[in-house]
Amino acid sequence: MALSRCVGTVGALLVFALLTGAQARTGAPQTAVPTLPPPTIITAQPIGDTIYPALGQAGLDVLNYDLDLFVDRPGTSELRGTAVLTLTATQPLPALSLDFLGPQVLEVLWNGLSVPYRQDQMAGKLTFNPPQPLLPGMRAEVTVRFAGRVGVRPDPDLPLDVGWQAVPAQGERVGANFTLSEPDGTRTFLPVNDHPSDPATFTTRVTVPAGYTAAASGMQQSEVAAPNGGRTFTFVQAEPIPTYALAIHVNRFERLDSPAIPVGVGGAAVIRRDYFPVGIPVETRDAYASTNEILGVLSDWFGPFPFSAYGSAIVTPRIPALETATLSTMPVTSSSVCVLVHETAHQWFGDRLTLADWSEVWLNEGFATYAELLWAQSQGENGDEVVRGWYARASRTATRPLIATTERQLFDTTAYIRGALALHAVRVTVNDAAFKTYLRGWVVEVADRPVTTADLLAYTRTRLGERAWAALRLWAESPALPPLPAKP
Ligand code: TRP
Ligand code: ZN
Repeated sequence: MALSRCVGTVGALLVFALLTGAQARTGAPQTAVPTLPPPTIITAQPIGDTIYPALGQAGLDVLNYDLDLFVDRPGTSELRGTAVLTLTATQPLPALSLDFLGPQVLEVLWNGLSVPYRQDQMAGKLTFNPPQPLLPGMRAEVTVRFAGRVGVRPDPDLPLDVGWQAVPAQGERVGANFTLSEPDGTRTFLPVNDHPSDPATFTTRVTVPAGYTAAASGMQQSEVAAPNGGRTFTFVQAEPIPTYALAIHVNRFERLDSPAIPVGVGGAAVIRRDYFPVGIPVETRDAYASTNEILGVLSDWFGPFPFSAYGSAIVTPRIPALETATLSTMPVTSSSVCVLVHETAHQWFGDRLTLADWSEVWLNEGFATYAELLWAQSQGENGDEVVRGWYARASRTATRPLIATTERQLFDTTAYIRGALALHAVRVTVNDAAFKTYLRGWVVEVADRPVTTADLLAYTRTRLGERAWAALRLWAESPALPPLPAKP
């Protein structure tokens, strides 16, 4: 039975919230940080996200983050390191303002020269003035050195803090750390332009003590000895990704390499590796044996896999899975094929295509949920049953138009299930070959700009015509739940 086997990620999220008694939590108070004299002018404007109006800086375009991180005591919230940001601008910027709730800043350099800065823990901003405004077409390098305890950012509706996770040692298990940052947790440990409309490339160097392995988004470039028996691992994420999709893991891992598979652009090989913490139950690994088949099925529907590597890093806390780029973060308790299908689909929708605004998050969750149906059908299951199950669920829950208006709506049943049903409403207006061309075309169409529902509507009209467009519009905009989509 498709439904009992495949409740989907939103199911896992809800079950998780129930089990743990989701309730508002407040973070630990931040210790005051001594500040240097404030910069003279602060005129930085945030990006203007409708859900998170304070995030990011308008006109700032971070091209690359070069990270040198030291995890001296895995399992704790201590982190030190250096982030070098390569910046450009789309409008003149006399002041720079990065999102940062993280450890204490020790130094900020602008193209190698020390500049005064202000670290405001309350506002979560690191602000400074460059010697000259950053102008469009110019490039600059900002170096931020920091050390101390990471910041705290409670999740909008789950009983967890997003960002840098510390998993204390327990019994046989050593202390571990990993990132779990959607929507805006990366700023708890890195100075970033923390918004999906500004994706960037990353080079991530992580130095860990003896016996530990580090893993991160992208391809591993090197592993070299560090002092006291430690190791430094370097990863290069060569394709831009949103900040929340950056994976970093520190644990005692066994890395399982599998043969590369030719699902990349032009049939390019995608490197396959999975990381299993030492000591987890062996059955946990079963789901991951399907990764290659999942990549095959999804790349048939969505087009070439957008990154040069893919796999999962398994974590031990009971939390929801997250689609971290090239390396999905998969809890032992969510190690099912269905959740893996969902997170793998997000590699296209969320990680490659990025959101223009958090209110548009159904464009991630609806497509990732829809992939669960495409997978079920590839396994010979009855797709209509899956759709009926979704519809029954959507009918039992409060509904709303697809574009979210509040933080609480971001990861609700509407984003996942009504979002998936909206895509199904488009599909039933055409044949499967046309629907496949449509999905593959969407990935290409919006590859170089952040996505909006308006873009998808316009694309649907051009590509599939009035009927498909009207169906999507109804599903996107109607206050009530439209009728069950069915072939005419
Ligand atoms: N995007 C995740 C998924 O559907 C769900 C999610 C939202 C999440 N916020 C999170 C997971 C925070 C972990 C932590 O797969
Ligand atoms: Zn999802």
